[in-house]
Amino acid sequence: MTTSKHTALSDASIEQAVERFGTPLYLYDAAVVEQKVTELRSCFPEQAELFYSFKCNPLVGIAQLLLRQGCRVEVASGGELTAALHAGYDPSNIVFTSPGKTEEELRLAIRSGIYCINIENMNEIALVDQIAAQHGKTVDIAIRINPDEPQQHAASIKMSGVPSQFGMDPSFLPEAIETALRMANIRLIGFHIYLGTQILQAEAIVRHFGQSIRTAVELADRYGLELRFLDIGGGFGVPYFPKETALDLSALQQGIAQVWQEWGSNLANTRLAVESGRFLMAESGVFVSKVLYTKESKGSHYVIGDGGSHQHASSAFLGRYIRSNFPMRVIGEGVGEQEVTVTGPLCTSTDVIGNKVNLPLASAGDLIVVEKSGAYGLTHSPTMFLSHPVPAEVLIDHERHYVLRERGQFSDCLRGQHPLAEGVTL
Ligand SMILES: Cc1ncc(COP(=O)(O)O)c(C=O)c1O
Repeated sequence: MTTSKHTALSDASIEQAVERFGTPLYLYDAAVVEQKVTELRSCFPEQAELFYSFKCNPLVGIAQLLLRQGCRVEVASGGELTAALHAGYDPSNIVFTSPGKTEEELRLAIRSGIYCINIENMNEIALVDQIAAQHGKTVDIAIRINPDEPQQHAASIKMSGVPSQFGMDPSFLPEAIETALRMANIRLIGFHIYLGTQILQAEAIVRHFGQSIRTAVELADRYGLELRFLDIGGGFGVPYFPKETALDLSALQQGIAQVWQEWGSNLANTRLAVESGRFLMAESGVFVSKVLYTKESKGSHYVIGDGGSHQHASSAFLGRYIRSNFPMRVIGEGVGEQEVTVTGPLCTSTDVIGNKVNLPLASAGDLIVVEKSGAYGLTHSPTMFLSHPVPAEVLIDHERHYVLRERGQFSDCLRGQHPLAEGVTL
């Protein structure tokens, strides 16, 4: 039996939480989140502001924890914007990025007076200008750039340098910038470049940041723009699998210091944003499923738990990011090890959260703990499938438990539905 080094996520602590809140369960350790914020901040000059990428874990309570740490927030939908405002973020610390912002979402962003809308296509420029005019406002925008250079890093998902729906190719930038500058109701304050996610090589991140800053400074010079805002993204990765090594934070810090030496003076009056979701949250959380049954089938061992891919799709490789087993452990009395397939309760063969993993012999009632599950867990999962209630999500902070999301109920699947005929009493 292995034990997590973080006491809030130790076996004993998890068992205690399970007794109170049941399974399946997401458990988060506030101390780890705080440590990650401190670690990432230490890599950047003080001027840089850390924006929490809401998409990685949209719990209002988590957003509040990050707000308490002085983070700003980057949202990607009207829902996330609503939740960020609800969490208490000041609109002046919110940026909105999405390749498909609807008119309704843009209206909400403009009405709320958020700091900046990161624009991703030509039509959006005109639409924002039009809505801004209707609200009698001047709206600050940044243009998201999809650079031409293919990125050299090994990010699982490259979000620039390849054809994509994100940002604008450099060939479109002259037209985009000139259009933005002509519009009466928008102000072009800067640029946004996001290169990809799950990057584990510090040198690659440093190189990208250097390139991004150069691109933005050169564009600003060329068009006589005052570079008020520059969002250089992030992509800071987390090692999930045995062959991966953690991001070398001292190399990152040194590399960024060099970039800053070269470019810092150009950015003296620029608000510099760095975005992070996964790095801040992944290692703070575990997903806990209780073993319902164990069985053998044609020579293979199966452990069937009450939590599955509908609640933690990334662990079941359904997400595009992660294609190997998440680290996991068993809490129980089992000794020895055997190769098992850990599944959830769904009637689909893709509901496998551990594929041929070596685990102690588990039996009914034992707990399967999927580690590094604080980011892209429930939020990245097809929770509607098979109408199971959502797991509870609980934060442990200074030994106190905070229920951030209540466990769902069977009747949740009926919410918002209009049956054709009456007759069922709930
Ligand atoms: C624009 C943007 N910012 C930030 C993020 C968050 O990335 P991560 O969780 O890897 O930090 C993403 C993820 O896709 C993104 O698209």
